[in-house]
Amino acid sequence: MREVNGTQTQTQTQTQTQTQPGSDELVFFVNGKKIVEKNADPEMTLLTYLRRKLRLTGTKLGCAEGGCGACTVMLSRYQTHTQQLLHHAVNACLAPLCSLHLVAVTTVEGIGSVARKLHPVQERIAKAHGSQCGFCTPGIVMSMYALLRNNPTPKMADMEEAFQGNLCRCTGYRPILEGYKTLTVEGGCCGGRGRDNGCCRTNGNAPEKPPEEDADEASSLFNTADFAPFDPTQEVIFPPELMSLTKGQRSQSLRFHGDRVAWLQPGSLDEFLRLKWEHPDARVVVGNTEVGIEVKFKNMLYPVILAPTFIPELNAVTHTDDGVVFGAACTLSHMGAVLREAVATLPPHQTEVFLAVLEQLRWFAGQQIRNVAAVGGNIMTASPISDLNPVFMAAGCKLTLMDKDGSRVVEMDDKFFTGYRKTVLRPQEILLSIEIPYSKKSQFVSAFKQSPRREDDISIVTAAMSVTFTPGTNVVEDLRLSYGGMAPTTVLAKKTANKVLGRRWGEELLQEVCSSLAEEMTLSPSVPGGMVTYRRTLTLSLFYKFYLTVLQKLSGQGVNVDEVGSDCLSATEIYHPETPTSVQIYQAVPEGRSQDDVVGRPMMHLSALKQATGEAIYCDDVPLYENELYLALITSSKAHARILSIDTAAARTMPGVVCFVFADDIPGSNATGPVEYDETVLADHQVTCVGHIIGAVVADTQLQAQRAAKAVRIQYEELQPVVTIQEAIATKSFYQPIRTLQRGDLEAGFKQADHILEGEMHMGGQEHFYLETNVSLAVPREDGEMELFVSTQSASKTQSLVAKALGVPANRVVVRVKRMGGGFGGKESRTTILSTVVAVAANKLKRPIRCMLDRDEDMLITGGRHPFFGKYKVGFLNSGKVVALDVSFYSNTGNSMDLSLSVMERALFHMENSYNVANVRGHGFLCRTNLPSNTAFRGFGGPQGMMIAESWMTDVAQSLGRPAEEVRRLNLYMEGDSTPYNQVLDQFTLDRCWDECLARSEYEQRRAAIELYNRKNRWTKRGLAIIPTKFGISFTAVFLNQAGALVHIYTDGSVLLTHGGTEMGQGLHTKMVQVASRVLGVSSSKIHITETSTNTVPNTSPTAASASSDLNGAAVQNACQILAERLEPYRNKNPKGSWEDWVKAAYFDRVNLSANGFYKTPDLGYDFDSNSGRAFNYYSYGVACSEVEIDCLTGAHKNLSTTVVMDVGHSLNPAIDIGQVEGAFMQGLGLFTLEELHYSPKGVLLTRGPGAYKIPAFGDIPTKLTVSLLRDAPHDKAIFASKAVGEPPLFLASSVFFAIKDAISAARAESGISGPFRLDSPASAERIRNACSDRFTKLCPPAEPGTFTPWSVQV
Ligand SMILES: Cc1cc2nc3c(=O)[nH]c(=O)nc-3n(C[C@H](O)[C@H](O)[C@H](O)COP(=O)(O)OP(=O)(O)OC[C@H]3O[C@@H](n4cnc5c(N)ncnc54)[C@H](O)[C@@H]3O)c2cc1C
Ligand code: FES
Ligand code: FES
Repeated sequence: MREVNGTQTQTQTQTQTQTQPGSDELVFFVNGKKIVEKNADPEMTLLTYLRRKLRLTGTKLGCAEGGCGACTVMLSRYQTHTQQLLHHAVNACLAPLCSLHLVAVTTVEGIGSVARKLHPVQERIAKAHGSQCGFCTPGIVMSMYALLRNNPTPKMADMEEAFQGNLCRCTGYRPILEGYKTLTVEGGCCGGRGRDNGCCRTNGNAPEKPPEEDADEASSLFNTADFAPFDPTQEVIFPPELMSLTKGQRSQSLRFHGDRVAWLQPGSLDEFLRLKWEHPDARVVVGNTEVGIEVKFKNMLYPVILAPTFIPELNAVTHTDDGVVFGAACTLSHMGAVLREAVATLPPHQTEVFLAVLEQLRWFAGQQIRNVAAVGGNIMTASPISDLNPVFMAAGCKLTLMDKDGSRVVEMDDKFFTGYRKTVLRPQEILLSIEIPYSKKSQFVSAFKQSPRREDDISIVTAAMSVTFTPGTNVVEDLRLSYGGMAPTTVLAKKTANKVLGRRWGEELLQEVCSSLAEEMTLSPSVPGGMVTYRRTLTLSLFYKFYLTVLQKLSGQGVNVDEVGSDCLSATEIYHPETPTSVQIYQAVPEGRSQDDVVGRPMMHLSALKQATGEAIYCDDVPLYENELYLALITSSKAHARILSIDTAAARTMPGVVCFVFADDIPGSNATGPVEYDETVLADHQVTCVGHIIGAVVADTQLQAQRAAKAVRIQYEELQPVVTIQEAIATKSFYQPIRTLQRGDLEAGFKQADHILEGEMHMGGQEHFYLETNVSLAVPREDGEMELFVSTQSASKTQSLVAKALGVPANRVVVRVKRMGGGFGGKESRTTILSTVVAVAANKLKRPIRCMLDRDEDMLITGGRHPFFGKYKVGFLNSGKVVALDVSFYSNTGNSMDLSLSVMERALFHMENSYNVANVRGHGFLCRTNLPSNTAFRGFGGPQGMMIAESWMTDVAQSLGRPAEEVRRLNLYMEGDSTPYNQVLDQFTLDRCWDECLARSEYEQRRAAIELYNRKNRWTKRGLAIIPTKFGISFTAVFLNQAGALVHIYTDGSVLLTHGGTEMGQGLHTKMVQVASRVLGVSSSKIHITETSTNTVPNTSPTAASASSDLNGAAVQNACQILAERLEPYRNKNPKGSWEDWVKAAYFDRVNLSANGFYKTPDLGYDFDSNSGRAFNYYSYGVACSEVEIDCLTGAHKNLSTTVVMDVGHSLNPAIDIGQVEGAFMQGLGLFTLEELHYSPKGVLLTRGPGAYKIPAFGDIPTKLTVSLLRDAPHDKAIFASKAVGEPPLFLASSVFFAIKDAISAARAESGISGPFRLDSPASAERIRNACSDRFTKLCPPAEPGTFTPWSVQV
């Protein structure tokens, strides 16, 4: 028997069971404890083993495809030949269990715990406010931990590299970097002495203002003195037993047999070759970063796996006369280290190829992938978008292939790849090694990668170019232009290259190459991946960059060539990220206020420490019930169809399958929906979107259920789908009602106008990408009771809809929510269907049932932010004053109403953003389409309405040729103005935010500097924009503006607080404890919140609309006031007594120490018909100014600087509020510049995971980020004069979009184009490049729309 973290594990039980015949024992260590697994399953990942078998649930599942880093653990191995310990961060979701023989695994639980002792990396991320929902936190902790194990004094750049494979959707990354900066060379406190780069007070940035001006202004959200010191000598030691086991084991020949797959690990090259000969179809696996994806997402089954990872010849690195030879199993991290060393020691002319490889490696996946992925794996995957293959091809690398009978050497040229993912390798052959050659003196090599996001992204186009000149001249002797992303394989542009052999490197050659490339590098307009014009243009633009780079290098060698104009130099610069710096400014609490009063202080999120140690329990971390089963969904593959038949025969016989659930199994009503019951729990005869839930399979394990679900065969009769907004407009496919909001006299307004302008804009949708996907666990109890553990923002809605489907009263259903790993609106209404299906299954089987959606399922099924199309007509005066606006919004609502009407209403309520327009009319159309129902998402239609407003505002300024900032200021609301829905703006602070933002961002100086920069640079342009926001606070459905709380005081003085809100990372529970602490006058440490549940506080509104602190805070205040009043006599009687004394006295006096509180927002109730009544309780205001730089040739952009000024009233907790501002800003940054959902013309979502759908990563933070909470902004509408903050700042990220648009305008001006132009959101690299019209774009005209079927459509 073995113990893991004090609990007996199933592994021990397994070790006593019968071993699979022929299987070896797998020996490895987890957190210092030895595990001997006799039945290692080749199909199991380390993550599943940790979570399900060892019950180590600190390591999270976010994507299962290596793209989010939530599953990061550290693997350590003793290398016998170097006698070194190697530590690597890896993705446990891709690491095969069988690959772990003699490996030490360290998980987040292994480095510290709240009860035992926190590791500094756990403590610092928590105390620096770098953990909100906490689902990403263990992974980030482990990436940092692994970095420190290898390098106890890292630089900031090392840290940024270590985080390339980690995503966080909540924090905006800044606080994580700030917290961990204290562990870097650059970090740590300056002790007041000041340093080159600033001081602690500004977290490493030069102070913005002299401190004496801001006596009550604070800028540090944490105190480094609170941090335990970091002592690298105290780290957990590598298990000595493992070291001796490793030393003793010469050959590592192993076999593991599972039900379907055998894992063979050869101990020598000979054995490997023999096995490959015997099993020509066997899959070779090294890092499993490609094969793991194929198995998980492409349904591939490889019955025999050969794992040659530890064969010495495949890991050898040899320096020869011609170059460096790498064994095919060398990891990319190792290859990078060897090449960096070579570059540092060899003469520069020899290392051009090495530098090109290193350039590609810089942006190749994340550290966790590079630590295991092999160079051979990249070559042999033969992916057309491989980043290394173009370099290997351009450099003419040599590959040694081998089989049992011998070896052969082939050059990596245009014959090596024989088709999509095919090479010249014979089935029995393996790749032994690759030789990367030294470059020659007259040879120049460059590599380029263009992807939607810089960090950890797959390429759109990737290229490598090599030119060799006749020595001492600019005459081309050899030219190799190799591209990825332009064909089914990596290709060489041979025709083009041959044309210019013998020619001089100059303008004529450039023109010839460009026109030839435009002909040679063509793509079908329907090509997978789309972006045809962009990809074609990139082939030319990248060559132009190479051309300029080579000119410079030739000139540097003294060869007579055309001079590169200084205005073109920036086109040749290689992007190097700058370490971000930041400032956070907030109003400090007045001096003299009791330390026990925590309101207004930057108190740490109450769960942060647990989240950082992995001890925080999320829904799927709830231990398995003994008789629990797992559920997998059966979903539609058609957007619109009749179901003809469902065949479960094949699935029924599969191992582990227990039963199926279809519509007939629903005892109550199959009709569901949060507002209208217009959808089904399980499809009945008809499906209306891809991903429509048809049924479910229940099986013993998740894998069995998922496999069986895939084996269910469904026959459909396809019906014509409506997919896009334009198709809905054409077919008048709208839900009713069509909302109109109107004020003033539109006709008179347009008459009065000096100019009238019309325009259109499309704004794409957005995936919530909460790190924790949807998950539900239903446990049947007696009397028809059902207990559900759900990750939802709407406990009560889940309760009522589950009860409806089960046909039981709501009092039999209890919904419990401990915490969510992010919600953002995505868990407001769409979670209810999964919970209902799980409850129906649990009811059918009378057994506990669990289901956590895989990331791809979650993205496919649950909908997201509504895409919007806006058409506008705007009338304005010569001054820029807008006098009339007529706007129509069309939202892509999807296949059910869900919350879409309210979303549209909010868009209409925000259609003028922050501008006073006298005559205005807005129409809102809800397009009924065959997409999964779109739903709430932070901002809830507000960002869409405001985005289209800022689009026409930009057009107005551009058409007048006036600075946009002036025109915006001119139109800005003022105190006492009223909105189009007749709400008077009082306690108005937007003008103050605006002025402070202008000042803090140094707008004028910046603008002047940008103009100078743009004059001096042709191919990079900078842009600037300042954007306001005004966000109405309240649910627009009046009845939702209510909340309850329940507070118990126990006789020991401890307080149990419950309220109607749920915790999804936003810090609501922390704020509620702060409120209760102040009202009760007791230390916050005595107050505890366990969970949100429907049996404590009933009939709760969803935690949404940014109003939860206001509503629940007031309810908590109400309950606590009642209790405080009841305790008052005992305080008065014994003023020197303690809280416990008063509580005890009251108890013995038989005073009720439990109270519930209630709150409803007063004076609300807007009516569209009469355009009267108050829509909102109040407004949150904010302004942001952003500066960007775009690369006109590639469309890439850099976020240089952002200044945000946000009015959150008197902040309840500045750390949480600044966290919300930054998190919302970064989510908005994704929305407006990065995140793109691609749908096929038939309505199939093509972007279903972090590999294809890119949310902002660490590297996307503005290089300089200033967040200031407006000071002295009293306000009387919400708890303790605070204001809502969750949603309002999101829209401020549009300042980045409009700064990009500003920069594009500067680029277009170079081509003589001026005036308004349409730029849809997001401002992706593709859109930016295509808008920067120039000589290269002209060579690649788009195909005529309507003449082809595109890969994806704008929905
Ligand atoms: C999150 C993520 C990000 C990624 N980012 C990038 C990126 O930025 N750029 C990029 O180009 N790729 C990227 N990839 C793809 C992948 O990581 C690389 O292709 C990687 O190099 C594969 O190596 P591996 O050892 O993991 O391969 P494995 O999955 O182990 O194997 C891949 C293939 O190679 C074959 N193979 C491996 N070794 C041999 C051998 N010696 N002889 C014969 N066949 C062999 C295997 O049979 C298999 O078909 C990414 C993948 C993931 C999951
Ligand atoms: S779960 Fe492993 S990287 Fe996302
Ligand atoms: S805190 Fe990072 S994803 Fe929520």
